[in-house]
Amino acid sequence: MSSLLKGVNLYLIGMMGAGKTTVGQEIARKLGYRFVDTDAVIAQFTQKSINQLFAEVGEGEFRQIESKILAEVCAYTNLAIATGGGIVTQQKNWSYLRHGLIVWLDVPTDVLYQRLAEDNTRPLLQNADLLTKLQLILQERRSLYKQADLHISVSANETASQIAARIISEI
Ligand code: S3P
Repeated sequence: MSSLLKGVNLYLIGMMGAGKTTVGQEIARKLGYRFVDTDAVIAQFTQKSINQLFAEVGEGEFRQIESKILAEVCAYTNLAIATGGGIVTQQKNWSYLRHGLIVWLDVPTDVLYQRLAEDNTRPLLQNADLLTKLQLILQERRSLYKQADLHISVSANETASQIAARIISEI
């Protein structure tokens, strides 16, 4: 990491299942940063799971809460932040993300599929053909994820620690 970037927040963006949380935790450990997961903060703030929140208030209200949490988080420094996969869809969030360095964890769709096949914690993936849904969401978001400062293409056999080390060496 360049000494010029010391203390600058790192925002991990990317699809559900990309490993933003595990890689973010590794980055925090290696840099002596604190780790924040925006979904975990939302769940703590609302006292509801993300599934419950989507069911009760809908995606629109969830996005409002997500933006509010992001605005609060970016007032701090020395953070590695795992964001929710849809954070990039709200234009105003980009001004918050730009407070720090934005890293896109780009994981092949077949790897996402394997990781998410048994998962029931993602409301957007319920009751849908998983592979088709993942492809659709990625198609909608790829141009947004591409606006990251750093694009990290992750291979299936790389560990979170290896990915974190690669990110730190590239910034
Ligand atoms: C979402 C991703 C989830 C969570 C919510 C919506 C999305 O976070 O914020 O289910 O729109 O991609 P993860 O990317 O951590 O799974």
